[in-house]
Amino acid sequence: MCGEPRLADIGKDITVNGWVQRARRLGGLIFVDVRDKTGLVQAVFSEGAQGDLFAKAESLRSEYVVGVRGTVRAREAANADLPTGEIEIVATALAIYSEAETPPIYVKDDDNVSEDLRLKYRYLDLRKPKMQRNLSFRAEVCKITRDYFAASGFTEVETPVLVKPTPEGARDYLVPSRVSPGNFYALPQSPQIYKQLLMASGTDRYFQIAKCFRDEDLRADRQPEFTQIDLEMSFVDVDTVIGIQEGFLAKLMKETKGIDLPLPLPRLSWKEAMERYGSDKPDLRFGVEIVDISDEVKSSEFGVFAGAVAAGGSVRGICAPGASELYSRKDIDKLTERCRAYGAKGLSWLRVGEEGISASFSKFFGEAEMERLAAIFGAKKGDLVLIAADADKTVFRTLGFLRLALAERLGLIGGPDAPEVYNFLWVVDFPLFEEDGEGGITAMHHPFTSPDPADEPLLDAEPLKVKALAYDIVLNGNEIGGGSIRIHDKDLQHRIFEALGLTEEETKEKFGFLLEAFRYGAPPHGGLAYGLDRLVMLLLGEDSIRETIAFPKNQAAEDPVSGAPGVAGGGQLEELGLALRR
Ligand code: AMO
Repeated sequence: MCGEPRLADIGKDITVNGWVQRARRLGGLIFVDVRDKTGLVQAVFSEGAQGDLFAKAESLRSEYVVGVRGTVRAREAANADLPTGEIEIVATALAIYSEAETPPIYVKDDDNVSEDLRLKYRYLDLRKPKMQRNLSFRAEVCKITRDYFAASGFTEVETPVLVKPTPEGARDYLVPSRVSPGNFYALPQSPQIYKQLLMASGTDRYFQIAKCFRDEDLRADRQPEFTQIDLEMSFVDVDTVIGIQEGFLAKLMKETKGIDLPLPLPRLSWKEAMERYGSDKPDLRFGVEIVDISDEVKSSEFGVFAGAVAAGGSVRGICAPGASELYSRKDIDKLTERCRAYGAKGLSWLRVGEEGISASFSKFFGEAEMERLAAIFGAKKGDLVLIAADADKTVFRTLGFLRLALAERLGLIGGPDAPEVYNFLWVVDFPLFEEDGEGGITAMHHPFTSPDPADEPLLDAEPLKVKALAYDIVLNGNEIGGGSIRIHDKDLQHRIFEALGLTEEETKEKFGFLLEAFRYGAPPHGGLAYGLDRLVMLLLGEDSIRETIAFPKNQAAEDPVSGAPGVAGGGQLEELGLALRR
């Protein structure tokens, strides 16, 4: 391969195949850099060579596909930037397999072109060293996954892709059935139901690297078509599932990064994560914890504070070290604007400046009271405290956002030169349900998640208080996976569907087959799924999962290479019994 020849190969007759990175003539010599996925090597053609070799070399342009045969010799001036930089190939033969037009994007890592263009010409983009590295890294992660789970007694099973709608909460991609006009398959949002059926099938430990499909709004960490490392186990409790995962993550970190992951990984309850960090996927690479000052301010003259507590909410804030100078009034106004997206009606602040403490609410507080508040936050000279007063949910969301925004501005998360930090943690004890915003409740994870048996008596009267046997694995503030112990008792599953407002018919129509399976002996079981793309993105230090997927969709959920989705032609719609409403 192009990236392989070294000094030890001097004198050998070798052949390399690849793409011309560049060809340049210097007097009677032509230097050609030949590239494949392993790297670059320099080949030299001299004017005195036999036959038409030199003339052929003169015709080479970037991205021509060639085979070069020749003898390895030491370079006069070594190139320390190149692993093959100490040698070159003195060419004795050249095959031009394919010519190439001038490519619309340069094949080099820092080409600076728009992502749209990169995605349209993905096959050129993928020729870049970084993208080849990303693809092979992803393949390595898949191999480690297969090795680990196979060695731990898991059977790899493929589950179907044409299925009934699956309940992960996103919109389904539908596939019309030709033989059953008017009926539709859904593409699976996850293999959830099938992996539970596999437990009822006696498969005991299952895993799969599975394609999942969700028609939801795209973000840097979301694709409509993505990949899960999906697994399920029978006869387990939360600790057993987590233990198996920690073994996997430790092996992964060791083999890909040489890092010894300290085990067991920390666990935070969902409640604690929300109260301390305002997030169910807290980034613990930095502190800046939320402080509750409700008790201190509930009887204050300041209506915003007193009112929030009186209405059952709270007043909480975070102290950003050294941020006072960085944030002018205007900057805080801008932050406040951004907080509106999280439901906050406003933001209060307190600064410890050179001339003492000032605050947006100073009218209502005496000097001593402000000093006491500053002390509660641990605010020192130069610090800025931001405070939200509202319903708890809004307070947490707002402060969770602010915590990340401030950390980024203050450089608390580490810049490009900071050492790589991988902060894993489990978030456990999630609520089973949450409000759906329309007066009802919805499953926080999915409807097959088992309630904590201790909370089962609350199911009917106070469902929002019921905790779930659910867990998420978080890496550097990203949810890289989640799972739960499942319900294996058909009656309990019925009760949950009922609590979720499903009628008997709906339950039967949607999940009857699962409930039926549970009638014939289902083991207790539980599992988890990782977002493979996200995991790989974080390990590679990339900002987008698109950098880890060979042919990702763009922001409009299109495949820019092929142009999919496209119109159905040639009588396809008719055959499917469909007509378009224009
Ligand atoms: P969940 O919906 O939490 O759980 O998905 C598991 C993990 O998949 C990743 N993920 C995504 N990655 C990229 N693009 C998306 N659109 C996307 N959606 C989710 C996340 C997430 O943590 N069946 C359950 C798992 C279980 O209970 O075992 C499920 O799918 O990293």
